[in-house]
Amino acid sequence: MDLDTLRANAQALVAPGKGILAADESGGTIKKRFDAIKVESTEENRRAYRELLFSTPGISDHVSGVILFDETIRQSDRDGTPFPKLLADQGIIPGIKVDTGAKPLAGADGETVTEGLDGLRERLEEYHALGARFAKWRATYTITDEIPSRYCYEANAHALARYAALCQEAGIVPIVEPEVLMEGSHSIERASDVTAEAQAALFQELHRNRVLFEGVLLKPNMVLSGYDAKSQAADEEVAQRTIRCFRWTVPAAVPGIVFLSGGQTDEQATSRLNEMNMLGPHPWELSFSYGRALQAPVLKVWKGDAANVAAAQAAFTHRARMNGAARDGSYTAAMEKAA
Ligand code: 13P
Repeated sequence: MDLDTLRANAQALVAPGKGILAADESGGTIKKRFDAIKVESTEENRRAYRELLFSTPGISDHVSGVILFDETIRQSDRDGTPFPKLLADQGIIPGIKVDTGAKPLAGADGETVTEGLDGLRERLEEYHALGARFAKWRATYTITDEIPSRYCYEANAHALARYAALCQEAGIVPIVEPEVLMEGSHSIERASDVTAEAQAALFQELHRNRVLFEGVLLKPNMVLSGYDAKSQAADEEVAQRTIRCFRWTVPAAVPGIVFLSGGQTDEQATSRLNEMNMLGPHPWELSFSYGRALQAPVLKVWKGDAANVAAAQAAFTHRARMNGAARDGSYTAAMEKAA
């Protein structure tokens, strides 16, 4: 294994002012996004939409890497340039989602374990040949009064660690994503406890599976009140609790933490990342790996109409620039209006 390359790619993904675009929606998820704007989810529409994102002028100023889906990594722009090459030519690192989804965990009502380990070594070899230099695997944890169980933490941590070790063997930087879901009426304190348990279990398994921390990135949820909680914590409290939780659980050798947006509004996701970076310096880079928070405004403007491509790209550039500013705590709400 080439640790220098892994480390260099992990560091490039969290370079100052930049973050990751998660564009790895599975067939079912992209259909949901397209349904909302009344666009049919055909292969050509999915390709055209991803081309819009990846060919946005100047986007590499704020996007260090893009996570692709299996279909997308094999697609090309209208001139026949494969998407991984289109990205790499701009200095953007292509990545790939490799898990095959969260499935019911046997004997554990309401809990899931993420699958995709069978045949993973061979798939990673193919993805590397297609240009992927980093990957993503997402585990999910639902909060109620009774769950997550210890069994769920351990089953998901084990799968994440097996995946991460296989990635590093293949020269691919693993992004490990233990996502504690916002659904529920739990307090922010409970979200913090569950996030810490999930991460502590994960880093213990990563260590046991001989994963090199310098060549891995963590993609976590922020510590938030449940959607249906009586009171919602302010951005400043979210930032303080998230940082405190991570200082307890994430080794300083990990180069970066790249947050998911997970149902926050675009501006909340930016503002909270900004608050956290204002509390720095931290042992790790704090960055973004947003799906919805980068793409929601783009989809709304695009609406499947080629005539809207330039305006949709401008919306994407704006969101990427706002998040780029949040990387060093220089974002302000006034910058939204100025656009
Ligand atoms: P969201 O930012 O929409 O949560 O998506 C990020 C992601 O890749 C989830 O796995």
